[in-house]
Amino acid sequence: MKATKIIAHRGASGYAPENTMKAFEIALDLKAHGIELDLHMSSDGQLIVCHDERVDRTTNGSGFIRDLTLKEIKALDAGSWFGSKFKNQRVPTLQEVLDLLRNRDLLLNIELKSGPIFYPNIEREVIKVIEDYGLMENTIISSFNHYSLLEVKRIYNRVKTAPLYMAGIVSPWKYAMDIGADGIHPYFYNVTPELVKLSAEKGLFVNTFTVNEPQYLKYAIDCGISGVITNYPDRGLAILKER
Ligand code: G3P
Ligand code: CA
Repeated sequence: MKATKIIAHRGASGYAPENTMKAFEIALDLKAHGIELDLHMSSDGQLIVCHDERVDRTTNGSGFIRDLTLKEIKALDAGSWFGSKFKNQRVPTLQEVLDLLRNRDLLLNIELKSGPIFYPNIEREVIKVIEDYGLMENTIISSFNHYSLLEVKRIYNRVKTAPLYMAGIVSPWKYAMDIGADGIHPYFYNVTPELVKLSAEKGLFVNTFTVNEPQYLKYAIDCGISGVITNYPDRGLAILKER
């Protein structure tokens, strides 16, 4: 059985404003095995790392990312909401995060938000950028929008995909295979040893989100899970050390 990978959710978002370079840098400093980030597209077609489709919650600006240019987004303060010492943090582009990951053997989980509905070409753009950076082998593309994952596979079958889901999928390993995915990303309430075992038998990885409490981290790790996506990578790493 492979060791569980500890994946920093929106970077080490327990310690720094989510989806900022500082959050990704801290994840690397803590020795997380990978990072997760969320992706949208600006009005001028740039790949923007942010969780919400609006900038309101995590910056001092307002509006939908799809209505703002990169220049307008870059003018925003993406850190002060988390703490005044983060006031210089900006909303990163995907390329800026990939520059940080270059030459490091880290897992990269890109979550596509609002795929084909608002951003018709986002799948193709992302694949192009990952290829340019030579990070195809390290990358998993996930989404709650499973049509987006079908589109990713249609464009380039080698990219690993994993459907995100909260609850309600019976036999998710069968569902994942139906949509050509390589793994599944369930909410942690759905994780059981059986889910992990049956998925592994089909050659599928299972990365669960968002696991922050030590007892749930321990539980997921003891289920033999492939990866845990957490705001506190140090907690997951400490548990792995004890095992
Ligand atoms: O990818 C796992 C997790 O990030 C999905 O939920 O809302 O945090 O993007 P959310
Ligand atoms: Ca996410």
